[in-house]
Amino acid sequence: MMIEGSGPEVTDRERDSRSEVGDRPAETAGGASQSGTPRITPPSLSQPSPPTPNGGGAEQTPGLSIALEQLRAFYGPAEAVRGLDLEFHANQVTAIIGPSGCGKSTMIRCINRMHEEIPGARAEGRVMLEGLDVYDPSVDVVAVRRAIGMVFQKPNPFPTMSIFDNVAAGPRLTSSRRGDLRETVESALRSAGLWEEVADRLDEPGAGLSGGQQQRLCIARSLAVDPDVILMDEPCSALDPIATLKIEELIDQLKRRVTIVIVTHNMQQAARVADRTAFMLDGRLVEVGPTQEIFTTPHDPRTEEYVTGKFG
Ligand SMILES: Nc1ncnc2c1ncn2[C@@H]1O[C@H](COP(=O)(O)OP(=O)(O)OP(=O)(O)O)[C@@H](O)[C@H]1O
Ligand SMILES: [Mg+2]
Repeated sequence: MMIEGSGPEVTDRERDSRSEVGDRPAETAGGASQSGTPRITPPSLSQPSPPTPNGGGAEQTPGLSIALEQLRAFYGPAEAVRGLDLEFHANQVTAIIGPSGCGKSTMIRCINRMHEEIPGARAEGRVMLEGLDVYDPSVDVVAVRRAIGMVFQKPNPFPTMSIFDNVAAGPRLTSSRRGDLRETVESALRSAGLWEEVADRLDEPGAGLSGGQQQRLCIARSLAVDPDVILMDEPCSALDPIATLKIEELIDQLKRRVTIVIVTHNMQQAARVADRTAFMLDGRLVEVGPTQEIFTTPHDPRTEEYVTGKFG
């Protein structure tokens, strides 16, 4: 495991100022980081993966696995995630389902350490990114958020920035990518299935796109820093069926290069996109397994009740 650049030469002051760059939710989607921020990728896993039909390829890396070990999350004294053990397999899509308030969003915010940004909130336990504990004190939180991007329920492009600048924002803060910024932006937009629609209007505001296009812009923004994992919290709930289908097709292509965790209330969506599905209840994991199995022959009667619509 290699954690470059996170040694003692990085002062707390530098660490703090870096965190400010990425700590606002809109900016952590994509995990913008400043020059020199380390990439959390074991050398053995940094081989290029085969190019996808949507372009890109040269700098792509396979996704990494994530393992939650006895993860607990609190808001002040209230415990929202109560000792969760759950593995997200590399280059697979895992859907998280469960009734409102069961801790799905809290859990995925713990994965890229955004939960701790909420005043009074804290997490316990471990989140292992391919064997590296992202909560280890030696790990740079900004590097974590670059490796583990996030897409939110409501598309949140930087409102005053152009389409180009929205995607370029993360790479611009990463010195190694400065030379080929246009290429990086085009590649990310192609991978997000948006290039054809915006190629001739890159200088127009990102906020001027449709909701579905904005969500794909946010996905492009997170892809531009070449993440290993993308977390999606109900990414289609504000979209119409056509835009939803586009995102679902995209997810299917993106899993060749990243590991995807998607929270959804839409059982059909989970069935369509997810290799595995995890059912949560009251801050705990009830069960996880192949999606087909969770929906047809779940082990726990509570899962069956939920997936057949008897509660939640
Ligand atoms: N910022 C917060 N401050 C205090 N409590 C919170 C906060 N965010 C969530 N909670 C509480 O934590 C618990 C889990 O909430 P969470 O948002 O993770 O649920 P969820 O499964 O994502 O629900 P939904 O499906 O409605 O999005 C709930 O009891 C909720 O009220
Ligand atoms: Mg939620």
